[in-house]
Amino acid sequence: MKDYWNDRFINEGYIWGEQPSKTVYDAKRLFALNDVKTILVPGAGYGRNTKILSDAFQVDGIEISPEAILLARQWDNRSCFIEGSIFEVSSNNKRYDAIYCYDLLHLFTKAERIKLIKTCIQQLETSGIYYFTCFSNKDESYGKGNEIEENTFEYKKGKLSHFFDEDDLIDHFKESEVIETGEVEEKFEYSNNENRIYKLRYIYGMKN
Ligand SMILES: C[S@@+](CC[C@H](N)C(=O)[O-])C[C@H]1O[C@@H](n2cnc3c(N)ncnc32)[C@H](O)[C@@H]1O
Repeated sequence: MKDYWNDRFINEGYIWGEQPSKTVYDAKRLFALNDVKTILVPGAGYGRNTKILSDAFQVDGIEISPEAILLARQWDNRSCFIEGSIFEVSSNNKRYDAIYCYDLLHLFTKAERIKLIKTCIQQLETSGIYYFTCFSNKDESYGKGNEIEENTFEYKKGKLSHFFDEDDLIDHFKESEVIETGEVEEKFEYSNNENRIYKLRYIYGMKN
């Protein structure tokens, strides 16, 4: 996983372009309403989305790719980027008021997804809030490649993707209080000038 992402950042640079996700503005509004001060961003990439949050909040990004971290420190010099895997974050780590996690969750098997959510929620203060996005089962890539688990496909060599329906997404977060889910379409303009519209889902909730 680390090599896959690092090679992509080396070869493609700012892979998803300069525009942040529209979901980060939604998350920012919800974080402000909830008096959030500190945010953890797992899988922060090159800081495309952290940059929107770091003008109002104290943001730490955890990112597995050292190449992405180099780009991120140039792109968003207010956030603190930590090199490492979200799976290796200690449960004694500092606690955050909120988590924003964009398109990381669907990259793993079921056991890993459950571990990812558990690890992230452990990093929250009591009543801390989370906002995750992931691939939807309505995305055009659904069904491509070998199905290695239910609704999880190896849709590019060495890269998994799980495609969530709404009930499945809610079920993944059943240990917390789910407040809202929804669907969103995102158009990406890749650094090689190709365009693609992705169908995503988001989930917003609170640590019990
Ligand atoms: C689909 S990209 C999304 C990047 C970023 N959230 C964005 O939208 O610009 C997934 C990101 O997660 C990172 N990543 C993958 N596995 C990780 C892990 N175990 N811990 C931390 N980051 C990881 C990848 O290097 C990549 O930057």
